[in-house]
Amino acid sequence: MAKAKEAKSKKQSTKSKIATYHNYIGGEWVRSSSGEWFENFNPADTSDVVGRFPRSNQADVNAAVEAAKSVATKWRRTPAPKRAEILFKLARILERDKEQFSREMTREMGKVLKEAGGDVQEAIDCTYFTAGEGRRMHGFTTKAEMPNKYAMCERQPVGICGLITPFNFPMAIPSWKLIPALVCGNTVVMKSGEDVPLSTINLVKACEEAGIPKGVVNVVNGFQEPGEVLVKHKDVRLISFTGSTDTGRIIAEECARSNKIVSLEMGGKNAIIIMDDADIDNAVEGSLWGAFGTSGQRCTASSRLVVHKKVYKKFTEKLVERVKKLKVGNGLGEKTDVGPVINQAAMDKILSYIEIGKKEDKATLACGGNQLTKGDYKKGYFIEPTVFTDASRNMRISQEEIFGPVTTVIPFGDLDEAIHIVNDVKYGLSSAIYTQDVNQAFYAMQELYTGICYINSATIGAEVHLPFGGTKGTGNGHREAGTQVLDIFSEWKSIYVDYSGKLQKAQIDEVEI
Ligand code: UN1
Repeated sequence: MAKAKEAKSKKQSTKSKIATYHNYIGGEWVRSSSGEWFENFNPADTSDVVGRFPRSNQADVNAAVEAAKSVATKWRRTPAPKRAEILFKLARILERDKEQFSREMTREMGKVLKEAGGDVQEAIDCTYFTAGEGRRMHGFTTKAEMPNKYAMCERQPVGICGLITPFNFPMAIPSWKLIPALVCGNTVVMKSGEDVPLSTINLVKACEEAGIPKGVVNVVNGFQEPGEVLVKHKDVRLISFTGSTDTGRIIAEECARSNKIVSLEMGGKNAIIIMDDADIDNAVEGSLWGAFGTSGQRCTASSRLVVHKKVYKKFTEKLVERVKKLKVGNGLGEKTDVGPVINQAAMDKILSYIEIGKKEDKATLACGGNQLTKGDYKKGYFIEPTVFTDASRNMRISQEEIFGPVTTVIPFGDLDEAIHIVNDVKYGLSSAIYTQDVNQAFYAMQELYTGICYINSATIGAEVHLPFGGTKGTGNGHREAGTQVLDIFSEWKSIYVDYSGKLQKAQIDEVEI
């Protein structure tokens, strides 16, 4: 992806009056010490330059980590309810500026305006919910083995956190990482997604206005280099990453070398099971939303529709009819259902999977399949919503993450077979089943090996007060959101208080009562 934007960057750089944005280090908005910039384009119209951003290097990351380090003790010692007060203020600022942030998000990322509003709202919800932890952050007390001795356990911050975020939820995902990191008392360095730096900057400007002390939150923009330096930096204790499975694996290997805590949210190949007793119209609407919302660029996207043979024809016909009616266009257009994909590299990858579906897998291309190039479409990265039918479970389009407006319909005979198809991929983020039968619903809930599971709803739309994450190739066992996220951004400290006034020896078999 980086390459696509770089190539454009040279061509467009002669334009004047382009808004210029900076890194945020130690409470100052600064350029990169590289002296270099990159331009960020609207994926719906690449002649529209959103802004130029610092192309950061090692020295910038070092400075950001140094800033985070310099205030770490002060922030750690700030009482958690006080930290939370600032975060509540941040939530109110995000609410106040929601409309502006949403429009700017659609401009840089492409998702339709209502979805951008939902993205900012998710950041607001996450901020309110997680800030509430400032007054909970429950530990526990328990009984000690010896008399006149007290035992308890509390959370402590981990230190400096490096947060590396993707393009698809430009404000929600950074907030999922930033807010819990802060409420737990950590200081952070964020590396913004190179396709969506403005949304991270908007979030951080709001942090500045809310009064988060200088140095607690730092942002570096750029491509691979700052991310790599952050992952390797000896003073960074934790890396939280959302993005591709390939990059996540490299990060995990690197973090293992320096024994960093690492939390990974990666790919998905999520499926909806549609049973023969399902409300078909409801299942069609859910599939449409799950597969083509955010142009299919969600880790949670419904990229497989596993349909009972008895309703396969009916479901498929209705689905294709609805998909053909989806309006593709600029996300700012009121009637737009599906926006562009993020950049040239993404478009090339998606189109190559469409070719694979046709030529290698030999599935039936039921609708879509083309890049849109006429009229205004030629200015951006638009692909027709695409449905493959008559697919089988082992095809590449049934197994590999496409991350675009493409879904694959796979027929099945009975529920066990359907569950097996759903589970038989390397990912395990989200799954869903449409059925009216409570027994089948509960059985599926039990057997689907994913981190998230929906009954009579699509695979997308997780709420911030429940844990978010996946099994197998999707993650490494951590969960973001909910209160479970605190387990990423804090470490437990067990504390023993001996008030007996004498030496009491533990693990010696002579306790006197
Ligand atoms: C993602 O796709 O990476 O559950 C995040 C959902 C959204 C978040 C998606 N709340 O679809």
